[in-house]
Amino acid sequence: MADADPRITLDYNNCMADAAGDEHLLAESDFDGIADQAGEVAQLIADQRKAGALPYLDLPYKADQVKRIHEYVNENGDQFDDVVVLGIGGSALGTIAVHAACKGLTYNLLPRDARGGPRLFVVDNVDPAHVAAVLDLVDLRRALVVVISKSGETAETMAQFLICRDLLRAQLGADYVRHVVIITDRKEGPLRPVAKRELFEPFDVPDGVGGRFSVLSPVGLLPLAMVGVNIDRLLQGAAAMDQRCRETDFRRNPAFMSGAIQYLYYLKGKPLSVMMPYSQALRDVADWYRQLWAESLGKIRKENGREVFVGPTPIKALGVTDQHSQVQLYREGPNDKIFTLIAVKDFGRDVPIPPADNPKDSFGYLGGNTLRELMDAERRATTWALTKSRRPNVTVALPRVDEHTVGQLLYMLEVQTSFTGEMLRINPYDQPGVEDGKRATFALMGREGYECLRAEIESQQPDPKYVI
Ligand code: PA5
Repeated sequence: MADADPRITLDYNNCMADAAGDEHLLAESDFDGIADQAGEVAQLIADQRKAGALPYLDLPYKADQVKRIHEYVNENGDQFDDVVVLGIGGSALGTIAVHAACKGLTYNLLPRDARGGPRLFVVDNVDPAHVAAVLDLVDLRRALVVVISKSGETAETMAQFLICRDLLRAQLGADYVRHVVIITDRKEGPLRPVAKRELFEPFDVPDGVGGRFSVLSPVGLLPLAMVGVNIDRLLQGAAAMDQRCRETDFRRNPAFMSGAIQYLYYLKGKPLSVMMPYSQALRDVADWYRQLWAESLGKIRKENGREVFVGPTPIKALGVTDQHSQVQLYREGPNDKIFTLIAVKDFGRDVPIPPADNPKDSFGYLGGNTLRELMDAERRATTWALTKSRRPNVTVALPRVDEHTVGQLLYMLEVQTSFTGEMLRINPYDQPGVEDGKRATFALMGREGYECLRAEIESQQPDPKYVI
């Protein structure tokens, strides 16, 4: 009987050497060498969780939160043609990734009946042409605007909010209130009082959960449920992975083992980490992961009074598309990368390739196969080619792409990030480099209290040097 909830797997054989000493491959002795440290990190993560310091790990089990989301969706889902998410970074990328994976990239193009829910627009930028184009498409009188900001003060999100609120008020009068949901910190930040004052429906970004670890909180769950993603299955998948990730022996824990491989290669002079899903639906998971990995692991470590600049650089690629764009570099360029390919066994659909008119045509061999077979052959070909060029690669395989497997995958990557951050001895949960940029934006946009910073930035602007 087929397993109702098949597991995702991690295959790391293409990283393994028969013996130690190969600079591009790993030997068992490499893992032995980090075993003590990995054991300490595993214990630290377990202790932090027990002490309530890693609340993102418990998001799959927040039944009250999920119940409230279902109640809201049941009461309001039918009233809206569009859901517009205002948010950026961790407040946006998880929703984009899960939606694309579970509903497909052409979801918004389908008629309402086929979609089964409102269209979804996640703005995630302040490019005026982009924002204006989204607003051209959406009838705000039939839209739900979901404003997501943990801090409640990110300039991009607040600008989007002011624009939409103004338009909503003009078009709907007092009824506009029903069209806005606010997802923000439970206690802090300026958005919560706004929600209270204006009677917007509020949801919480849970305490201690940072944006990039928040996809399984109302940040992702509310908009995803509104557009018909099965959030219960998503959380069940995450919970199933949580059970696997409680294993403290890092070699038996998929997230820790994957993190250990990334860590060892970082030490071995491969600071670039490519994620390459062989699945159009998982394209945006690589984007979400890129933020998770970069913002969590790119940090200054203080060591003996010195600053050490730490962090692998995540790169997103897409199979098969980037075989014709990146793979030349990946095979013959510097051997400074570790590759994570994502394979999908069952795409849910398949397209047969008809026979060529003349079987002797050079492309006649394709006839009688299917696109799934071609996709799979190309993934295997890339794996073979990378391995032949001694480019280490691992494969994460999903039996199919659905809420359950995506829940497993996201949770695994979050735990992998925590593990790798602790192995690198940095704090994976803050983002001082981002906060500086936010404050500089406040200053340049004239926020009160930031005058000195503005003067400092403007005094440091060099004269432009143009090529004539
Ligand atoms: O992961 C993070 O912490 C960031 O990417 C934030 O999500 C992003 O900067 C948006 O912040 P906020 O939710 O406070 O508006």
